[in-house]
Amino acid sequence: MQEATYQKWNAQVTAWIDEAKANILEHFHEPLDVEQKSGRRDLVTQVDKENEQRFVAHIRESDPTARILGEEGLGDDVQDDKGRLWIIDPLDGTMNFVKQRDDFAIMLSLYIDGVGQAAWLCDVMGNRLFHGAKGLGVWLNDAKMTAPANLPLSEGLAALSGPLVTHDVDHMQAIAAASLGMRIVGSAGIAFTKVLRGQQVCYISYLRPWDFATGKILAEELGLVVSTVDGQTPTVLSYGVVLVATKQAQKAIVAMQTA
Ligand code: IPD
Ligand code: CA
Ligand code: CA
Ligand code: CA
Repeated sequence: MQEATYQKWNAQVTAWIDEAKANILEHFHEPLDVEQKSGRRDLVTQVDKENEQRFVAHIRESDPTARILGEEGLGDDVQDDKGRLWIIDPLDGTMNFVKQRDDFAIMLSLYIDGVGQAAWLCDVMGNRLFHGAKGLGVWLNDAKMTAPANLPLSEGLAALSGPLVTHDVDHMQAIAAASLGMRIVGSAGIAFTKVLRGQQVCYISYLRPWDFATGKILAEELGLVVSTVDGQTPTVLSYGVVLVATKQAQKAIVAMQTA
């Protein structure tokens, strides 16, 4: 993406995210309107829906020919990755928002023909906006980020998802044992930021497109690897176990699947 095009989008998307943050903070001290989706651990609030509705309205106005894939279904019915596609997670870590009012994120990204172009990942309570574009680099707020050290799994913390560890899916317990320690934060967005910053060497979870599309662009731009647990490249419309890791940690995790 050309730098001038990115700067134009960055100004707009940052304003949309500021509006979504303000909406979250407006509801911060009030009881939320919480509904269950597939079960008691899968929640949605009016804030998730309001944020998505506003993002969809802004994108329709600023990029009218693009399609929109949003978690809460207020965008388009997207079955392929052709053309311009915005992917939105209007509030990532809804359970954390409901129970902790902490550790939740907002994520938006733009793909063209399945290739990630630009991404915005906001750690709301940390006041951190990670943003960047293919070929241009990644910023944390206004500071350009440098690539995290390529540490091996044995020298870093591993972020895993609770259900995968409990059921020992894809050798999760061995991965945890090989690392310096396991962490579970409950928001894919926040977990991605920790790998981007070099605080953790990997994050592995069952993820849907809106959970990893944004983090994938930022991670790859910083020299990290995003793959399936057996080393395949996930397409942006994939559903499954996805990991983001340093190159060395990814190699060790993939090797454990066939050992
Ligand atoms: C969820 C969170 C969670 C991850 C789930 C996601 P949501 O997103 O990122 O950490 O384990 O797979 O669905 O539903 O809160 O946006
Ligand atoms: Ca959800
Ligand atoms: Ca999510
Ligand atoms: Ca969400």
